[in-house]
Amino acid sequence: MRSRALEHLWMHSAGWAQMAEAGEPLIMVEADGARVTDSRGRRWIDVNGGYASVNAGYGREELARAAYDQARRIHFFPQRTTCPPTVNLAAKLAAITPGDLSRSFLVSGGSEANETALKIVRAAQRRRGERGRYRIVSRRGSYHGGSLGVLWLGAPEDGALDEYGPRPPGLLYAPQPHFYRCAFGSQSAEQCAARCVEATEKLILENGPETVAALIAEPIPITPRAGAAVPHDSYWPMLREVCDRHGVLLVADEVVTGFGRTGRMFGIEHWGVVPDVMTVAKGLSSTCMPLGATIVRKDIADLFATEDTLLRHVFTAAGHPVAAAVGLKNLEIIEREKLVENAAGVGAYFKQRLEALTGRHAIIGDVRGLGLLLAVEIVADRKTKAPFPPERRIADELEAAFRKRGLLLRAGGGLIMPTPPLCVTRDDIDEIVDAMDEALSEVALNQANK
Ligand SMILES: Cc1ncc(COP(=O)(O)O)c(C=O)c1O
Repeated sequence: MRSRALEHLWMHSAGWAQMAEAGEPLIMVEADGARVTDSRGRRWIDVNGGYASVNAGYGREELARAAYDQARRIHFFPQRTTCPPTVNLAAKLAAITPGDLSRSFLVSGGSEANETALKIVRAAQRRRGERGRYRIVSRRGSYHGGSLGVLWLGAPEDGALDEYGPRPPGLLYAPQPHFYRCAFGSQSAEQCAARCVEATEKLILENGPETVAALIAEPIPITPRAGAAVPHDSYWPMLREVCDRHGVLLVADEVVTGFGRTGRMFGIEHWGVVPDVMTVAKGLSSTCMPLGATIVRKDIADLFATEDTLLRHVFTAAGHPVAAAVGLKNLEIIEREKLVENAAGVGAYFKQRLEALTGRHAIIGDVRGLGLLLAVEIVADRKTKAPFPPERRIADELEAAFRKRGLLLRAGGGLIMPTPPLCVTRDDIDEIVDAMDEALSEVALNQANK
């Protein structure tokens, strides 16, 4: 199986040459809760929770049943018709999202959800008579997807994307309210938030508000650069005000933060802000099926209500009834088992235990995050916050040390980002943190001997 994968399969973010040397890829054959079993029978804890996406946990019989039942009944819709789960999921999203977010364009993942959002906001501005508004503001160090229309959001700066260029026109980049590495050297998180919002407003003013269609941002980002940086409480309300002042639509990318990840159903709810458009994916189906949604406020959606004003936008699998049936059942599980509350409680415990490691490991520069979206930043020097140089291969060493102890946990960019399923228990967390503790000691020792 492994050699067939190495020969024929093009995996995400993994070089088959290195995988061959390392005896990878692991072939996973079974899973339940936060644990997965590989083809040799070894059990692992998936501390990444898939891609921060397996919110309800693995091995959910009910999700499998929902998919089977719907596929058996009617697995797809004839054109210009729809099916019950698709309708019910759109209605459910309207009920649980904040404010008057009320109409969903269902898609197959986060990139498609954001592509859809960008088309909607540009078209909506023009329909409102704002014909010059096409620019999109995103924040440095954010990620909004892998397809070409959204790839360049978030200001990839290290040249990693140069081969896929040119960068499309009309993209503006605002600073990220990431206090630990504030671009303005702020003295407090509040000051960092204020300066970032000020700079964002200045950016809009300098480029002409009459050219700016929308601003897209994640309530809390998950990239290696700004991972799990929780903004000060003042940030989101101020950002909303700036958008309102200048007629800029606000898109909240809740692809990671949606469905309980941060200890609220949606991340933005921590700050009582209602965006104009919200994008979701991952936790909507716990990635049991490819599923996402672009959820839009009524006044904006209504600009597309007639045959003459249709959004020119079709993905064949969008609104797929089998995926929608799984999404509905997944939301039922999240609510019934109080997984949002669990993420808040167990997440706080997890963070506390990680903070306690700071005293034992000098290479921990920062511990941050909310709910079960957490980050431990690894630094070569705590005082200067200097990262380890790439030739020290700290991420590879950390990941190998975690794997030795049965943890699947990424450490890209020197940032360890635990995002386990929301059904994890305190016992699971103790097991994870004890293993992380040992792994950090081993890596620190190796590095000291280099
Ligand atoms: C914040 C955010 N937005 C969008 C995406 C893209 O989602 P997908 O990979 O489902 O296309 C991701 C993926 O990790 C993400 O983290």
